[in-house]
Amino acid sequence: MTNWKPMLCSLCLISVMSASFGLDVTMSQATVEVARGDDVTLTCNYKPKNQVNQLIVITWTGDADEVSGEKVLFGNYYSHGEIDIGPDYKGKASIETNLDAKTSKLTLKEVTLKESRTIRCFIQIPGDIEGRQSDTTFLLVQVAPSQPVCKVVGTAEYGQNINLTCVSKEGSPTPTYKWERYDFQNILQAFPLKTTEKDGVLSLVNVSMETSGYYICQSTNKVGSAKCNMTLTVMPPSMNFATIGIVAGCIVGAIVLIIIIFCCCRRRKQKQKSKDYEMENPDVEYHDKPPAENNMDGNTDNMVISEDRTYKTGSDDVRNHYDGRRGSRDDLNEGGRDDLRDRYDERKGSRDDLRDRYDDRRDRYDDRRDRYDDRRDRYDDRRDRYDDRRGSRDDLRDRYDDRRDRYDERRGSRDDLRDRYDERRGSRDDLRDRYDERRGSRDDLRDRYDERRGSRDDLRDQYDEQRDRYR
Ligand SMILES: *[C@@H]1O[C@H](CO)[C@@H](O)[C@H](O)[C@H]1NC(C)=O
Ligand SMILES: *[C@@H]1O[C@H](CO)[C@@H](O)[C@H](O)[C@H]1NC(C)=O
Ligand SMILES: *[C@@H]1O[C@H](CO)[C@@H](O)[C@H](O)[C@H]1NC(C)=O
Repeated sequence: MTNWKPMLCSLCLISVMSASFGLDVTMSQATVEVARGDDVTLTCNYKPKNQVNQLIVITWTGDADEVSGEKVLFGNYYSHGEIDIGPDYKGKASIETNLDAKTSKLTLKEVTLKESRTIRCFIQIPGDIEGRQSDTTFLLVQVAPSQPVCKVVGTAEYGQNINLTCVSKEGSPTPTYKWERYDFQNILQAFPLKTTEKDGVLSLVNVSMETSGYYICQSTNKVGSAKCNMTLTVMPPSMNFATIGIVAGCIVGAIVLIIIIFCCCRRRKQKQKSKDYEMENPDVEYHDKPPAENNMDGNTDNMVISEDRTYKTGSDDVRNHYDGRRGSRDDLNEGGRDDLRDRYDERKGSRDDLRDRYDDRRDRYDDRRDRYDDRRDRYDDRRDRYDDRRGSRDDLRDRYDDRRDRYDERRGSRDDLRDRYDERRGSRDDLRDRYDERRGSRDDLRDRYDERRGSRDDLRDQYDEQRDRYR
């Protein structure tokens, strides 16, 4: 209501001004509607104010439209009867002017969408350069919608959001679009919840198999309508080619991963093995040393035997010698010699004792070695079982660590064993020393024996001398 008064005022002002100051040009209709291909005639009226002669120029143009942005020239009328039609509208546009009625008419044949724009009537009269020189009409060329193009935007898979688009390339005025859904039995269905529709775009969210069906879009304006019929089939993701590709990629990746893990495990195993060798090195010592000890032992045995033999041969010699010359010297020497021999035998006995004790200890050592080998077998067993069970990773690794700890523990106890073995070796060396000591004292005894033999020979000489003298 508040806007009415200024508007009325300005209208009054314009009419007053035009009436008093200049030319007035009017077109009867603001809008003229025409179906495409029909003919249309537009009429322009003018009222000159200060006309000084009969000269007049009437120009029909089309304003720049929103589509092309170009102006259109239909034609010019000149008061002496000449008419110029625009180059694009020869044979298509015509202008009729009645100077007495002061009207001009533009006729367009078989209008197209190009003429669907604002049409201007512009009048030039000498002396009338004031007032309103032109007026306009909007020519609306109506076109029925073309068959709409319907598309699916997005991936028609379970759980996806997709859009169905519907566009008529032609249609004037701009068509409106309406979607409908029919199931495969051609029964009209409501859209699922959350479905939205705007400007021909139907947005379907979280589509499923139930979303499938015939989708029909109707494009309509005041002069006609057209529709599309689209079949939507929503697929499970696995049926999709891209998904198959992704799955294949995943499988390949998994295989590569498994190979890598396998290689890693192998390397680890080899490392473990080398570790084993490291541990077996002392083990080899363990194995090797005893034979060395055996050798030594054998040597000692040989030595003992050879000593024994030398001693025996020596004593036999003496005995032969002695038997060769029987006499009272027997009485002199036999006692002491037997004494020495007894003491020697005694010592030999104790030496055998020592040897027995040494053998004993060696047996016990062999026992322990057997037990150690046993344990190693059990460890290998466990390792095999570990290899078998290399399936589930985390679980296995935990158990593996556990076993590693236990293995380290066992290694510790094995080291202990080795220490104890070294200790025993030390004591064995002690024994050998003591044995050597005893051998030394035996040599002493032999020396003393030889001494006595010397003195015995002396005695024999003396005895022989006395006998000679006696004879
Ligand atoms: C569907 O259309 C809506 C609005 O028109 C838009 O926001 C959305 O991104 C579109 N979805 C797809 C999958 O194109
Ligand atoms: C999609 O639909 C399925 C059933 O069809 C439902 O289980 C799921 O929760 C829905 N997801 C969303 C995001 O609505
Ligand atoms: C849509 O097309 C299908 C076959 O493609 C047909 O069975 C159905 O009747 C059509 N619907 C409409 C409304 O034309």
